[in-house]
Amino acid sequence: MRVVGTFGAARERRGGITALVPTMGYLHEGHLSLVRIARERADTVMASLFVNPLQFDDPSDLDRYPRDAARDAALLEEAGCDVLFAPQVEEMYPSEPLTRVTLPALAATMEGAHRPGHFDGVATVVAKLFAGLQPDLAVFGRKDAQQFVVVSRMAADLSMPVEVIGGPTLREADGLALSSRNVFLSDAERRAALGISRGLMAAADAVEAGERSAAALEGLVLEEMSRQALDVEYAELADAADTSRLTVLDRPGFLAVAARSGSTRLIDNVWLRPDGSADRGARLGAPSVLYGGGG
Ligand code: PAF
Repeated sequence: MRVVGTFGAARERRGGITALVPTMGYLHEGHLSLVRIARERADTVMASLFVNPLQFDDPSDLDRYPRDAARDAALLEEAGCDVLFAPQVEEMYPSEPLTRVTLPALAATMEGAHRPGHFDGVATVVAKLFAGLQPDLAVFGRKDAQQFVVVSRMAADLSMPVEVIGGPTLREADGLALSSRNVFLSDAERRAALGISRGLMAAADAVEAGERSAAALEGLVLEEMSRQALDVEYAELADAADTSRLTVLDRPGFLAVAARSGSTRLIDNVWLRPDGSADRGARLGAPSVLYGGGG
């Protein structure tokens, strides 16, 4: 695997179809599953590792974001990555970026409402990665449901020649969605955090049994989360095409949640369809051995 720090070096010596997996590092099996999806589709697999200051509304969250570049590089190489683009801030933002990519309608709800400026930062850095690295396709985790819709719409609206692909959420065997932030959870906080996935699974069960009311589905998640005394920010059923709020599941959507367990902010979701089917993500057979492990 080549590790490079500049856009120019990353574009060198590539052959055939190139896939990009953008990350902020501190990788877990969820990221590696995206690399494997990329590997199946592309001749050259590239990952990026950059903790993007533009998307953090809270400077202390940026400072505290976990980092371990050497371990990330080893894991990526093992997963079949060919090129790791790991730029310094100066390569990404040689001067204050005066151009921002913004999707106001999509960024006004859920994550966008609770993290002002977050999606402008995400869309801007992903647009830069697409422009600078010129991948043919890019793979994003659908655990970041709203981000996935934002990036897909940006690429479509701006006619970017990149196919945006979503990979399923990976879960611990007990249901907790993998996240780099899981490493911050104490045992008690981790147990409480399970209320999130339990609530989402209850909602997916209800959809399979015929429930279509957003209030009822959101209520099921809220009930489980309040049982665990989690500090809930939102639980919303959103349109999968544009993230607008749904009152009834009459088109493909996702039920998304953000809550704090202790001081750790977690997000999770299930993708739901009006035909009653649900994408709940995939569970690992054993506790994850990377960051955020269940043991
Ligand atoms: O999902 C992430 O890790 C980040 O938001 C991304 C897409 C790498 C942009 O910084």
